[in-house]
Amino acid sequence: MHKDCERIMLSEEQLRARVKEIAMQVDKVYEGKFPLVVGILKGSIIFYSDFIRHLTVPVELDFMAVSSYGSGAVSSGKLNIKKDLDKDVKGRDVIIVEDIIDSGFTLANLKALLLERGASSVMIVTLLNKEGRREYDIEPDYNCFDIENEFVIGYGLDYNEMYRSLPYIGILKRSVYEK
Ligand code: IMP
Ligand code: MG
Repeated sequence: MHKDCERIMLSEEQLRARVKEIAMQVDKVYEGKFPLVVGILKGSIIFYSDFIRHLTVPVELDFMAVSSYGSGAVSSGKLNIKKDLDKDVKGRDVIIVEDIIDSGFTLANLKALLLERGASSVMIVTLLNKEGRREYDIEPDYNCFDIENEFVIGYGLDYNEMYRSLPYIGILKRSVYEK
């Protein structure tokens, strides 16, 4: 385990099994369709790549980079589009793949934006959900794990761009961000 981890919250095995289970459920819903799978950079990349490999329906892949957080662990409350989609979402069934829903600010704004651009449907699939932190009216359609209010890293998630490549989800030691 990485020295900055308090403990491992979700192991590689737990992640693999649950991501497969959720992907297979989503796959059934899109039978006969051709969804655009939108990954939110960079936190969702590992979840995204594991998720799409369990889909059997044809999909198109696209990505967006947004920031609602500054460099630290506290939300800045402003959605900034750093990289927009390549594809036009008009008339498309969109699956947003996100790493974690915290306050809900990012996804509430993104979902509204994609619907405004004419998407036929927007489904939210998230790896992690911090229900207790919600400030905006948004819920995931599919959620792999509900977690407590703790700052987690790994499997794509970062703290100051660090730890994304850890293969598990770990709880970051408070001493790392409180010093
Ligand atoms: P929201 O807009 O408040 O829902 O924040 C969502 C974003 O905050 C996620 O996409 C993450 O980038 C970041 N975030 C929230 N909680 C954590 C965490 O525990 N670890 C790492 N990133 C987090
Ligand atoms: Mg993120």
